[in-house]
Amino acid sequence: MKALVLIGGFGTRLRPVTYTVPKQLIPLAGKPMLYHVLDLLPAEVEEVVLATGYKSEQIDAYVRAHPPRWPVRTVSEAEPLGTGGGMKNAGGTMSDPFFLLNSDVIAAVDLGEVARRHARSGGIGTMTLAEVEDTRPYGVAALGEGDRITGFVEKPEPEAAPSHWINAGLSVWRREVLDRIPPGRPVSFEQEIVPKLLDQGLFGYRLSRYWDDAGTPERLLRSQRLLFDDGRGGRGTLPAGSFGKGPVALLKGAQARGASFGGYVTVGAEAVVEAGAHVENSVLMDGAVVEREATVDGCLLGPRARVRAGHRVSHQVLGEGGEA
Ligand code: GDD
Ligand code: MG
Repeated sequence: MKALVLIGGFGTRLRPVTYTVPKQLIPLAGKPMLYHVLDLLPAEVEEVVLATGYKSEQIDAYVRAHPPRWPVRTVSEAEPLGTGGGMKNAGGTMSDPFFLLNSDVIAAVDLGEVARRHARSGGIGTMTLAEVEDTRPYGVAALGEGDRITGFVEKPEPEAAPSHWINAGLSVWRREVLDRIPPGRPVSFEQEIVPKLLDQGLFGYRLSRYWDDAGTPERLLRSQRLLFDDGRGGRGTLPAGSFGKGPVALLKGAQARGASFGGYVTVGAEAVVEAGAHVENSVLMDGAVVEREATVDGCLLGPRARVRAGHRVSHQVLGEGGEA
């Protein structure tokens, strides 16, 4: 099987960081969001096609410098085509069936098992589903016998949501769904196409462990905690010469001598946490600096962002080179 990964979109909910970096390259528990998604693919996947748009060259460059275990190809859109348009544009060589993955979700799931369940179902697609309290930001499924999806509404008002089971953004489809997407214009797969596929048998696969969409600052940090707790952030031990508690993922050239940590932190490449500073529940991207005696809690610091000595910042997002 092959896999199609959707990586367009502007990441507006993670601005200002996403003005200069695509959200998929933001590191969570020491690894870009995109690579946590790729990690879910079975080893025997033949090829991964990345449907990119916004900041495609950065994704390309990163993937070339850090080759995943599967052959990877990028197909970029000149203008954003939406999820369906991106599938149509990049899906020409997909296998039958194929995996379709959003690039901003984290989960514990055996996608090989999802593919086997799909094959047994005889349906057009199998969509993994996560149970959430607030369904408003998601696509929501109505479930019938045998977890057949009998209704699907993208981002409904709460009173219109048919259940609490939402599209987790990790699915398997027969190739023919690509023929159902009109070419040459933006198309939302979830809004425009999925509801029309239900009569051909779309099945739900309920996730039982954890799932999140890392597309907002709050959910991004929650996702990082889930990944660390699942052991997907390395051992998460404290950096040499620092104290407090882990997990902390330290990337190449990062320094934190004399700093203290409160757990669930990624310190990006060449980033520095100075002596006497304290950081917890945060992501510090490459070259970010937390000066001495500063405190950072619940923050996303963009590349080379700087928190000045003695300052306390909590629940803030600083863009590239930003200061607080
Ligand atoms: N190629 C391409 N082109 N990809 C796109 C485009 C585009 O124009 N727009 C968005 N994407 C990618 C995003 O990068 C992301 O990986 C995925 O498609 C979904 O887009 P989001 O913008 O993150 O959508 P969402 O989070 O509001 O909703 C989607 O994900 C939810 C689960 O997190 C939908 O699939 C919902 O049904 C689902 O519940
Ligand atoms: Mg999303």
